[in-house]
Amino acid sequence: MVLRILYLSFGVFLLSCGGAEETEEQWSTSSIENGEQLYTIHCLRCHGSSGDLGASGSKNLKISTLKSPEIIKIIREGKGAMPAYANTLDSEEKFNWLSEYVISLRN
Ligand code: HEC
Repeated sequence: MVLRILYLSFGVFLLSCGGAEETEEQWSTSSIENGEQLYTIHCLRCHGSSGDLGASGSKNLKISTLKSPEIIKIIREGKGAMPAYANTLDSEEKFNWLSEYVISLRN
């Protein structure tokens, strides 16, 4: 009986470790891949997979000429119908990844 309880709690221990690992490993070493992941979650619904969907009057990211600091400012503060992400994205890296990905959508 005691053994069984030990066995069960060890199982739960293993399960909780697995969960923690998964969240840590969701980011890759590639900024573009991480940017794409964040873009899919936060930006796709308005800007679309190629950046030119134009939903809710969103600007075409394929023809945008903004540089990284301006892109990051818009993501942080929002603009017009676009929401601000200052409180949603919890690290500087995420703004940089998104900015790199947005620039990569250009032809
Ligand atoms: C609710 C729809 C919506 C969502 C979600 C959204 N945007 Fe936008 N985005 C807009 C709109 C609308 C504009 C145009 C703002 C303006 O100039 O008035 C815009 C403009 C931009 C611009 C400026 C382009 C330029 O050349 O002026 C960038 C860059 C941008 N969005 C990136 C993003 C990124 C990155 C995300 C996700 C973190 C995102 N947007 C999420 C609607 C959205």
